[in-house]
Amino acid sequence: MKWLEVNSYDEMSKVAADIFTKQLQVKPASILGLATGGSPVGMYKELVKRQQAGNISFSDVISFNLDEYVGLDQSSPASYWTFMHENLFNHVDIKEENIHLPNGKAEDLDAECAAYDARIKGAEGIDLQLLGIGVNGHIGFNEPGTSFDTMTNIVELTESTRTENAIYFDNSKDVPTHAITMGIQSIMKAKEIVLIAFGEKKLEAMEKLKSGIITEDFPASQLLNHPNVTIIYGGTK
Ligand code: GLP
Repeated sequence: MKWLEVNSYDEMSKVAADIFTKQLQVKPASILGLATGGSPVGMYKELVKRQQAGNISFSDVISFNLDEYVGLDQSSPASYWTFMHENLFNHVDIKEENIHLPNGKAEDLDAECAAYDARIKGAEGIDLQLLGIGVNGHIGFNEPGTSFDTMTNIVELTESTRTENAIYFDNSKDVPTHAITMGIQSIMKAKEIVLIAFGEKKLEAMEKLKSGIITEDFPASQLLNHPNVTIIYGGTK
């Protein structure tokens, strides 16, 4: 696991964008695993600038997002589908048919989970996966206690996660109780992983990860078993 300490959110965003830029320059038809939340917004802005400057293109990229809320329409302002379009997809040359997010409104959610993993497998797996981290160590929406063996599945969100994500909803009561998320094992299949975390509230999670203890009580710790992970972090002192 490679640790890159940065001094600002902007620096984190640029360093992460550099890794994605290099990936797209080496392999324009990359399969990217993408994440939502406040952490990647700056990196997405940076990638938009670089695409508009002609340094990279998303025209051959296939993307898979980590997760989506259960029960929200794609068009809901709080859906991850909307988040991704507003922050990245609407501003770059990615093809809509190459964008994948789990469908939290699927009639048969279990079938949707299996189909999502099959779509990733059909694309020959994720080359580069971006992750944020929840204050309780969740990655995607894999909450503490989740088995490391899970593939894409339906999860019940913890109160801590629902509170953290309430800022994206008009009313905290509107935060869905469940989500569909790539599992820890689906995430671990990516060839390379970049995790970004900035700020005081991520301090404890960064310290737990640095302790080297691998436990299902702290989902991100499974990343210690992955051969190619870079953690870009800062603002935690
Ligand atoms: C949500 C997302 C995670 C994300 C986490 C942290 O729970 N499902 O993928 O990593 O929030 O978000 P933030 O980057 O806003 O701290």
